[in-house]
Amino acid sequence: MLKIKKLKKNFGDAEILKDIDLEIKEGEMVAIMGPSGSGKSTLLYNISGMDKPTGGEVIFDNMDLSKLTDEEISDIRLKKMGFIFQNSHLLKNLTIKDNIILPGFKAGLISREDVLAYADEIIEKVGIDGIKSNDINKVSGGQLQRAAICRALINKPRVIFGDEPTGALNSSSGKEVMDILNKINDEGTTIVISTHDIRVAARTERIVFLKDGRILDELNLEKYDEKEVQSREKLVTTWLEKNGF
Ligand SMILES: Nc1ncnc2c1ncn2[C@@H]1O[C@H](COP(=O)(O)OP(=O)(O)OP(=O)(O)O)[C@@H](O)[C@H]1O
Ligand SMILES: [Mg+2]
Repeated sequence: MLKIKKLKKNFGDAEILKDIDLEIKEGEMVAIMGPSGSGKSTLLYNISGMDKPTGGEVIFDNMDLSKLTDEEISDIRLKKMGFIFQNSHLLKNLTIKDNIILPGFKAGLISREDVLAYADEIIEKVGIDGIKSNDINKVSGGQLQRAAICRALINKPRVIFGDEPTGALNSSSGKEVMDILNKINDEGTTIVISTHDIRVAARTERIVFLKDGRILDELNLEKYDEKEVQSREKLVTTWLEKNGF
């Protein structure tokens, strides 16, 4: 569903992404790891239409993003992609629920009534029913992140991008967020996330290791199975050590 060919991104003279080739299949769950500054966030921004690559191709759903207008890209981002970024950028003057439904109303894919009903369904699923009427400054970090997940899900996107989606959370909230992401992936949504956390990466099915803007290595795991959590974490740890992480 996502084909990245010879992707380059420069900031001024600095070459941040260098000839990245990567293919992400429908329904896959992929983690991007690598040292701080290796280009993980930059890669996510450039494959999700948030930023424009300096060179190369990003083909999403058989469309070359570089050939589309800004308007067309915004439309794809709204209707086919979901985003969970670290400081979730929820709107301050709206309640949790209003933040979640806003992109649903904006997309207009289904009636407002149906958006509201679906919002209630996913709000319940991620366990923030009790705080849906709160202002966003009256909830915890974990609750806010779950609200961000609901907002990302509201238009039933084909793919969800997350930049360290558990980065600001304690380990139990982080685990809850991963439980939700694993579940969404089981239901068929493609997921691409960056992370520094071995436990998070061990719950995906493929890990891409980025260093100095290049893909250095990949680790293929099977789909996540909670029974194998310890052996998977061990495998990931050994693999990261081999790559000097
Ligand atoms: N807008 C920008 N302008 C100039 N340089 C930038 C910009 N954004 C990122 N960079 C540089 O690109 C490099 C990669 O940054 P990026 O944020 O992608 O790293 P990262 O792997 O996500 O790191 P971290 O793990 O700390 O989040 C860094 O050297 C950074 O300073
Ligand atoms: Mg980053």
